[in-house]
Amino acid sequence: MVDTQSPTFSQHAQRLHGRIDAALQSRCALADGCPANLLAAIRYSLLAPGKRLRPILVLAAAEACDGSIDAAMPAACAVEMVHAYSLVHDDLPAMDDDDLRRGQPTCHKQFDEATAILVGDALLTMAFETLAGQVEPPEVAAACCAALARAAGPCRMVGGQADDVAGPGTDGSVEQLDWLHRRKTGAMIRVSLKLGALTAGASAMQMEALDRYGDRLGLAFQITDDLLDVTGDDAAAGKRVGKDARQGKLTFPGLLGIDESARRAERLIGEACEALLPLGSGTELLNALARYVLERNR
Ligand code: IPE
Ligand code: IPE
Ligand code: MG
Ligand code: MG
Ligand code: MG
Repeated sequence: MVDTQSPTFSQHAQRLHGRIDAALQSRCALADGCPANLLAAIRYSLLAPGKRLRPILVLAAAEACDGSIDAAMPAACAVEMVHAYSLVHDDLPAMDDDDLRRGQPTCHKQFDEATAILVGDALLTMAFETLAGQVEPPEVAAACCAALARAAGPCRMVGGQADDVAGPGTDGSVEQLDWLHRRKTGAMIRVSLKLGALTAGASAMQMEALDRYGDRLGLAFQITDDLLDVTGDDAAAGKRVGKDARQGKLTFPGLLGIDESARRAERLIGEACEALLPLGSGTELLNALARYVLERNR
């Protein structure tokens, strides 16, 4: 049940949105060598009005481990850069072939395909420049680089995307779908928490609790994304819905139906919130975000 006494996710998020966007803006001041058209396309995609859930997770994890927002901000920007790149490429004609993202034309529609591919290349590279150069101390920066590279790489996000594009094949089992979602979406959510915890010098117990929370949240997040594709609308979601079935995607509502998928997401969010208990106080934002994932319409 939703606790109506505690502040909603949007009240919490408001506090961070402006700071995250200012930090992303300041990292888009790319003079000397970046063509104006490429810079415009980078800014168009990165600064578009997304929910900023992954950077919020980085900052919330840092706060939950008594770290500072300022120390975690470069990592928050890095995960949003990788995420924005993944969306630009996900929308390309060779992948999901979408024309609407974050309420505006997709990058390849607004610019062109070559530019969209290069925007992805640029954002992915900028993410690691940001981590390597701006996270302190250098050992933590190196650990953040390694963790983000693994989460975004061929065995996690990119691998999940490859399987998603290839289609379900013959074995469309729940286990196969769990594994697909954990890689294509869950890994980036999970690593967001890890980076926040790393910048805060978290203990092993804190890391473990956040990892368990992130695992459940990440899977639930893609289940609700799949549900939105069936029950949502373009205007609220800011992207085209109703496409997964037409494109033959393996999804939870496709496999288990809407009600069972929603129950599954609810169960996972319950487990995510339970995983936070060992952390004690300071987890209000993480709890509110988990509940928001169930209720979201975008
Ligand atoms: C969309 O992510 C892509 C998935 C991984 C399902 P979000 O729903 O977080 O997209 P933005 O960042 O708010 O646009
Ligand atoms: C996208 O999943 C996952 C990544 C971008 C890694 P979807 O293809 O379901 O995301 P939407 O629905 O286009 O946002
Ligand atoms: Mg996709
Ligand atoms: Mg897509
Ligand atoms: Mg989707």
